[in-house]
Amino acid sequence: MSAIASSKAVTVTVNGVEYEREVEARKLLIHFVRDDLDLTGSHIGCDTGNCGACSMIVDGQLVKSCMLLAVQADGASIETVEGLAEDGELTALQQSFSDHHALQCGYCTPGMLMSATALLRTNPNPTDEQIKKALQGNICRCTGYWNIFEAVKAVGS
Ligand code: FES
Ligand code: FES
Repeated sequence: MSAIASSKAVTVTVNGVEYEREVEARKLLIHFVRDDLDLTGSHIGCDTGNCGACSMIVDGQLVKSCMLLAVQADGASIETVEGLAEDGELTALQQSFSDHHALQCGYCTPGMLMSATALLRTNPNPTDEQIKKALQGNICRCTGYWNIFEAVKAVGS
């Protein structure tokens, strides 16, 4: 019987930068990005796909990166919260979060920003219901949902 490879070479592009690393086959994408690539903006709240703190955009699709293995992302183009601002300029959404006090402890914020970014790309003028639906996979333990909703709505309207 042939041995199962325990690690694999993985190449990903994260926020426009290409990385190639040898990765343990069982390593989750969120752990790979945080621990191997030192991009710690994406958070881990549950590791079970419930909280949304680890949300990233992978090949244009919003994903919870604790639900993917790093090896499954081989060849992918990944966006994390670190890639939103350009040359120190906040995106309109990030500025709106600041303007609307849409963060308290900030733990959920990277995931909220990625979910809302994915929404606004495909639907620049979402309805209230569409905003709520887009954020329903993201938990804010500080319960700051209203201000987060208002921040997204201000950008979308
Ligand atoms: S850490 Fe991925 S959904 Fe909570
Ligand atoms: S601001 Fe604290 S978890 Fe959302």
